[in-house]
Amino acid sequence: MNISPERYLVTSALPYANGPLHIGHLAGAYLSADVYVRFLRLMGKDVVYVCGSDEHGAAITIKALKEGKNPQEIIDKYHDLFKVAFEKMGISFDIYHRTSAEIHHETSQEFFQTLYDKGEFIEQESEQYYDEEAKQFLADRYIIGTCPKCGHDGAYGDQCEKCGSALSPTELIDPKSTISGSKPVIRTTKHWYLPLDKYESWLTEWISTGYKDGEHLHDPNDWKNHVLGQCKSWLEGGLQPRAMTRDLDWGVDVPQEIEGAEGKKLYVWMDAPIGYVSATKQWALDNGKDWKPYWQDKDTALIHFIGKDNIVFHCLIFPAILNAHGDYIMPLNVPANQFVNLEGDKLSTSRNWAVWVNEYVEELPGKEDELRYHMIKNMPEQKDSEFTWKGYQDSVNNELVNNLANFVNRVVVLTNKYYEGAVPEYDENLDFISPSTQDYDGYHDGEMLQLHDDLQDLNEFLRKFEFRAGLRKLMEISSQGNQLLQFNEPWKQIKEDPEQVKVVMNLALQYISAMSVAMAPFMPFTADKLRALLNLPELTGIGELDQVLQDLAEGEMLIPAGHKINKSSHLFTRIDDNVIEAQVQKLHDAKAASAAAVEAETPAMEPIKDTIQFDDFTKMDIRVAEIISAQKVKKADKLLQLELNMGGEQRTVVSGIAEHYSPEEIIGQKVSLLANLAPRKLRGVMSQGMILMAEDSDGKLTFVDPGKDAEPGSIIR
Ligand code: 2FM
Ligand code: ZN
Repeated sequence: MNISPERYLVTSALPYANGPLHIGHLAGAYLSADVYVRFLRLMGKDVVYVCGSDEHGAAITIKALKEGKNPQEIIDKYHDLFKVAFEKMGISFDIYHRTSAEIHHETSQEFFQTLYDKGEFIEQESEQYYDEEAKQFLADRYIIGTCPKCGHDGAYGDQCEKCGSALSPTELIDPKSTISGSKPVIRTTKHWYLPLDKYESWLTEWISTGYKDGEHLHDPNDWKNHVLGQCKSWLEGGLQPRAMTRDLDWGVDVPQEIEGAEGKKLYVWMDAPIGYVSATKQWALDNGKDWKPYWQDKDTALIHFIGKDNIVFHCLIFPAILNAHGDYIMPLNVPANQFVNLEGDKLSTSRNWAVWVNEYVEELPGKEDELRYHMIKNMPEQKDSEFTWKGYQDSVNNELVNNLANFVNRVVVLTNKYYEGAVPEYDENLDFISPSTQDYDGYHDGEMLQLHDDLQDLNEFLRKFEFRAGLRKLMEISSQGNQLLQFNEPWKQIKEDPEQVKVVMNLALQYISAMSVAMAPFMPFTADKLRALLNLPELTGIGELDQVLQDLAEGEMLIPAGHKINKSSHLFTRIDDNVIEAQVQKLHDAKAASAAAVEAETPAMEPIKDTIQFDDFTKMDIRVAEIISAQKVKKADKLLQLELNMGGEQRTVVSGIAEHYSPEEIIGQKVSLLANLAPRKLRGVMSQGMILMAEDSDGKLTFVDPGKDAEPGSIIR
């Protein structure tokens, strides 16, 4: 294991280009990675941060089908939306790539070919649904039918979204292809599988000890518990061979030289993570660099930022692919985040329960750092967290405005007032009240060293992916700054002891100079504003935090005496109640509108009647009967007169089914007959019982068919 790697390759999960980005995505894989890479760059590390749109897989084609568009239109639309959202939120990718790019198709095909040539795949036949009209195999998501668990009639081949059950396509009742609407048939198809079961033992050792092939690659104590836990439970459950190809018409082609490749595409979870590699290649081409060390040199730290739903792919399957290839390093860490809930409910794209990033940046322009701050403060690092608009308002008003902006503003205003904006010289022998001890033992040098140690702590938190704690530390430094002013009251002392005020004010200016760098990983836009306010050089983002630490350790000033700062302007402004109320209202409106749309599609179910007892039920005598003849009843459009064979007995029944069935088509039909209903005369014919019919929401009647094998006369109970 390398504590101080030579370079870092940091990735954020490639988002599926089939829907807009919400705050859950942001908190999961992007903000966390962005804080980390900004921090590494500020510490002078060699970092490449890659991401891009995931543009393959059934998720994309289904969306296209739903919207009556082709997949290209869909991916272009969301790819562009993602780029805007990420840029506005300050996510500082070195490259934001896309998997539809040529270089990605080539790279993932090379990967597949290498694994194929090395004999890493096993070929296997399996049975799958095939759409004979559309002439294609159907991905699980392309099949809908009735859920065997809850009866919902729009369940997908892999999941029922109504009751949440995981399904396999063959479990669906009355399956239909979503492409042609026809009933799919089972056909056999051949695919290439990665035998994950064969890798189980080295994966287990690597995950739980950090050792692989005798080499110590990472310390499992550095990995998050919930990540290790998920990996271990997959491993304990036993890994199965997983198909790396699909029968689809959208995706990366299986290399055509391979026999049987025609019509086959790479499984999206094979090609997407290779997207990290192709993005790095493109970055290298654009910047005149070599991509290989970033993926193949042991001194590189490879770090994947993802949400918890992607853990198995990044901790087991992708490492298995990289290992099977042979030339690649393993990830050093996969600091996955858990999920963010919204106002007490799960975030959901389909139910439109989300705060959409593109909407946020349009509706609250200039407040990107406020969202970054609140999301980092509540990052779901170890467990799920909760976003509420009220919480967001409190973070901004109570912390950013009252603590941070207030401190900065006081320092800038007083410096302008007392010293015409010039950082004051001070007498280093003068003491003042230290904010940490609250006693007259504060010395400029000593407080500078304290600041150094606090920043070192902050660094340590970020290095360990503890972004919440890092942010808390930053705000503690700001609180200390406020207390420095509060305890020493320069506004009173300026008359009594102006020399002491100079020490305090100089120190306060050093504080906010340090903070203008240290806040940059969390709030890059505010860091820039603060630098401008202090009239300090704009941040390059490269090495400046490292320099601040060195300067503090050596007793160097971060902002020199005599340096002139600018006039005050507010770093943050309060969020009013009406802004928050409007956002909460908007959420509820959107959810109601989407529920209404779903309701309009799904017919309402008749309410269930009052509960009866078993005895009530047993009073009914229901028998299997067979229709042996049928004829229309004169002058009655709705009625048919039927002769039924009920085993030992023949019955005449008049039934209101003439608008649903013709007499000819029902001869031989088995029916369920309520046989002990009191006889009654209908249009002059005595009806001896009632045939049970199912009536759908449109009033259409069908027989309650006991099945062709049921014997006439059998009792139904
Ligand atoms: O879950 C998702 O949104 C996937 N598109 C993530 C892919 S991550 C990677 F491997 F590319
Ligand atoms: Zn269901």
